[in-house]
Amino acid sequence: MYICICNALTDRRLKDAIAANPNQRPEDVHAACGCRTKCGKCLTVVKEMLQNHCASFEALPQGVK
Ligand code: FES
Repeated sequence: MYICICNALTDRRLKDAIAANPNQRPEDVHAACGCRTKCGKCLTVVKEMLQNHCASFEALPQGVK
């Protein structure tokens, strides 16, 4: 599913960039995908994806991280 229409970034592409480096700002995720933020309408969703990734990582049992 396309999340960023301006850059044709899909949820899969964004998740891969977030998994590679979850400690980044939403704008940095665009840069990791080789593009830059344009209209900014997707930033809320990208921020939620970052938060969800970190939350799921924190929920893992000890020793699995
Ligand atoms: S929808 Fe992502 S920058 Fe416009």
